[in-house]
Amino acid sequence: MPTRTQSRTSSSSSTRSRSGRDSPNSGRSTFIIGESVPIIGAALAGAAIGLAANFGRKALIQGREYLIGDWDEILSAEHDEALAIFDKMLATDETQTFKRRMLMTKLCYGLDKHAYQEENVVYPALREANEVGDADALESEHGHIKTFIYELGQMGPDSPNWLEKVREFRQFLSEHAHFEEEQVFPRFKREMSGEQNDKITAMVNRDGFWMA
Ligand SMILES: [Fe+2]
Ligand SMILES: [Fe+2]
Repeated sequence: MPTRTQSRTSSSSSTRSRSGRDSPNSGRSTFIIGESVPIIGAALAGAAIGLAANFGRKALIQGREYLIGDWDEILSAEHDEALAIFDKMLATDETQTFKRRMLMTKLCYGLDKHAYQEENVVYPALREANEVGDADALESEHGHIKTFIYELGQMGPDSPNWLEKVREFRQFLSEHAHFEEEQVFPRFKREMSGEQNDKITAMVNRDGFWMA
């Protein structure tokens, strides 16, 4: 039989729930939480490092574009980058499926970012300046560009028709880019004030940053 002291000691060391009953897990909870703290801390630190790295990468990419100059010069440089990727794709053969996939991923990333900048800033500004016809035609062509990407994804990088489709895609994109660079953008830029030009440039850089 326990003494009064032994009984009190035993009672104070056991953990009870609010109902007064012993809880089978209550004794372990402190230990689990104590163990989880460093894990949660490490996860948060990892997430913070990831966010900082992503922010740095975006700043690097868009900072480089910011140095190019005005909105139309930034977009023209992006056209050149996309066409250069096409040229690398056209230099591959059907055994280089990994390289084709990598180039395709890079192309899609660049075109997505570019389309976002044009569709969310430049084309709406064109419509505001009563250039609705050009804005709508160009945005519709972006739909055809997405169709080319879809078709290439469907056929796969080892398809015998892959190069032919890439060549057709490059031609379409090149014509779209030249129409923007040689006709639409210069005419629009001539019509805008210096203040509006700066505003469009800032907005293109802002959207480019988020998509980078
Ligand atoms: Fe475009
Ligand atoms: Fe463009």
